[in-house]
Amino acid sequence: MRFLTSTLGRCAAVALALALAPPADAIDGPEDLPEGEGRDEAFYACIACHSMQVVTRQGMTRGMWQDTLTLMVERHGMMELEPDEHELILSYLSEHFPAARATGRGWTNPFD
Ligand code: HEC
Repeated sequence: MRFLTSTLGRCAAVALALALAPPADAIDGPEDLPEGEGRDEAFYACIACHSMQVVTRQGMTRGMWQDTLTLMVERHGMMELEPDEHELILSYLSEHFPAARATGRGWTNPFD
């Protein structure tokens, strides 16, 4: 009986911890993003206006990321980035959130 109550107690504690924890995909700081050069710069440049989920759910080519950054500046009033910072952030985004990622494992022939 003692075993049972302590097990139940532990389960309740775990359930409570899960209930209080933020959703698994919350991005609260740069450390929640994939490791890499430019990670902190990207986080702080983009989080000023919207959540990083807006950014990380994308999978784009370098050219599309370039267009996105231009759009943020021209349409949404993002501060223009310094050239080296721009390069750093652009490289980080295209390396860690590339277009291919969106299709998962890629196309496989179902008849093989
Ligand atoms: C000055 C404000 C501002 C900054 C800074 C900013 N954005 Fe945005 N961004 C917006 C607004 C406004 C939208 C459109 C509304 C929304 O989706 O929240 C948006 C939307 C987006 C979208 C979604 C576009 C779509 O078609 O759904 C992406 C991707 C994006 N931003 C990327 C970035 C990246 C990457 C950075 C950092 C380098 C960044 N943004 C920084 C204002 C900003």
